[in-house]
Amino acid sequence: MEFFDSHSHYNDEKFNTDRDNIIKEVFEEGITRIVCAGYNVESSKLAIQLAEKYSFIYATCGISPNDMPEGTGLPREPSLLADLSPLAEHPKVVAVGEIGLDYYWNKENKELQKELFIKQIELANNLNKPIVIHSRDAVSDTIDILKNKIKAKQGGVFHCCPLNVELVKEAVKLGFYISFSGNITFKTAKPENVILEVPNDKILIETDCPYLAPQAVRGKRNNSKYVKMVAQKIADIKQMEIEEVAEITYKNAEKMFNIINN
Ligand code: NI
Repeated sequence: MEFFDSHSHYNDEKFNTDRDNIIKEVFEEGITRIVCAGYNVESSKLAIQLAEKYSFIYATCGISPNDMPEGTGLPREPSLLADLSPLAEHPKVVAVGEIGLDYYWNKENKELQKELFIKQIELANNLNKPIVIHSRDAVSDTIDILKNKIKAKQGGVFHCCPLNVELVKEAVKLGFYISFSGNITFKTAKPENVILEVPNDKILIETDCPYLAPQAVRGKRNNSKYVKMVAQKIADIKQMEIEEVAEITYKNAEKMFNIINN
């Protein structure tokens, strides 16, 4: 059985001491495709370095709403996007992301967040790549942008999707994929309705490691091995075998990220 971890952060400093060991370990455990997501220019560069080093790792490049330098005129600051654009062209960069809106951590700069989100969707459209969306406490503005302001031509995915049925309904209607992480396993989570709302051909699984370790290992540093717990939870809810969840999410991710299976 093989798994595709569609969103990880092996570019995070929490992996600085044993990055290569853990990557080899999770590959041997059957996690044979991994996307490492950038969230600012530096982390995007590191994601590309990992993608160059390991054939089974792919990168995304983007500036997340939580990584906008404070107190500047960003994203009118031209250098930020000028630095990002050439990175996003790299052949192993499979999407622009993670990008989006986060009103949980940042309420003060909503207009700038929206502007940066739109500019990065334009970048993805110019490069014919999908987008990886981070949306937290910003459902209506996220949907409004994707529905009414700018179309993501190559589609994309709501990563670590909030357990919000309305958001998922709208996202699926717009053709987006939905990616679930360890948070669906949390004791307090009620993911059933949300998961049942997503058609099988639109589901992805991820860890968002080193963060969001599933319930059984909660509080520990997360890694791609634990994506199996996410797959198991989906299997339980959808009354499927875990093998089937592994296979469909693998194929979905390859299709969305345009990865040729060889
Ligand atoms: Ni992330």
